[in-house]
Amino acid sequence: RDEAAPVHVTPWWRERRAELLDRMKGRDSAYVYDLPTVREACRKLCGLSSVDRVLYSMKANSHPEILRTAVAGGLGIECVSLAEAEHALEQVPGLKPSDMLFTPNFAPREEYRRAVEMGLPLTVDNLHVLEKWGRELAGQAVFLRLDPGSGLGHHKLVRTAGSHSKFGIPLAELDRALTLCRAHDIRIRGLHAHTGSGIMHPDNWHRSLETLGEAARRIDTVEIINLGGGLGVPDRADELPLDMTAMDGGLAELKRQLPRSVQVWIEPGRYVVSPAGALLARVTQTKGKGDVRYVGVATGMNSLIRPALYGAWHEIVNLSRIDEPGDHVYNVVGPICETGDILGLDRLLPQSSEGDILLIANTGAYGAAMASRYNLREPAGELVLN
Ligand code: LLP
Repeated sequence: RDEAAPVHVTPWWRERRAELLDRMKGRDSAYVYDLPTVREACRKLCGLSSVDRVLYSMKANSHPEILRTAVAGGLGIECVSLAEAEHALEQVPGLKPSDMLFTPNFAPREEYRRAVEMGLPLTVDNLHVLEKWGRELAGQAVFLRLDPGSGLGHHKLVRTAGSHSKFGIPLAELDRALTLCRAHDIRIRGLHAHTGSGIMHPDNWHRSLETLGEAARRIDTVEIINLGGGLGVPDRADELPLDMTAMDGGLAELKRQLPRSVQVWIEPGRYVVSPAGALLARVTQTKGKGDVRYVGVATGMNSLIRPALYGAWHEIVNLSRIDEPGDHVYNVVGPICETGDILGLDRLLPQSSEGDILLIANTGAYGAAMASRYNLREPAGELVLN
């Protein structure tokens, strides 16, 4: 077991409870981000001996303070839209396009043209881009995103490899991609793969390095192999964290078989920010209906869609009554007009009353980032703790 990994075995929000309750005075809901926890994740990632560069996948959380903390912690930025790229360049002093990687998927031609204009390193994940827009990319150095053939992840909707996924160039099309690159004078600087999200098995990245390493042998310009993100974090306190030591060891061994000049990159999102975030929401109403008890809070799937979309499990505690025994089983629901507006099913909590603050843990990644204004309810705002 990796010693420093379970950042949230003694979660920061227990230690900072009084401060959190204080910040919630006069508010109904808020995301809170603990920057020391983000810094700790950055330190761990930068400590991997087999990895030459870590990019933060900003789609997980693009709050300016999170971006600044990740960059100050030694990470570059991976972005998936031009809007993300522009946001990061605006918000992070000193950040340059060359510190970033743009990894679009089915994006319009104009975004590729702008990326080239800006000097933003670019990943190509479809032959269409090379076949139809090759002239735009002439003289450029790009990453090719390959689909290693099978994906993993916490839910089928977050597996990003294999024939049912829209991402990446299948290995069977690699020859054609190389021919097109040659024809358009496009240099392949890097190979890229991202197989899924919320992965707890180190083998996933080992397999990607094997596959991309194999492909790299056929291309003499490859300087970088980017293994993507997907590093999972435990949802439950009794779950083991991803074994970073095993991940590192396996990668180091495989890397020794590559030319010395080839760098290995990764680009996690969730691992950097998920444990650092919590959603706080005030209890609005309670209800008993048949056998089921409901506790309703002021925000729901408009702030956090993961339980509704993926059946994701997030720990929920009653922060106002943290020392009281959890002796009531509740469904925790929001105010949105959908039966799926559930934050947690069958949760043991102390008897909860209007005005209490519930905390939904491990929501720093893909929480605020995926929020909406459904029902014209503004999603939770964001607070940062230094
Ligand atoms: N790189 C690429 C190319 C990606 O597509 C993604 C995530 C990442 C890196 C970062 O993955 P991470 O390290 O965060 O797993 N909304 C879903 C997750 C979707 C991830 C999409 N791509 C969720 O809430 O679980």
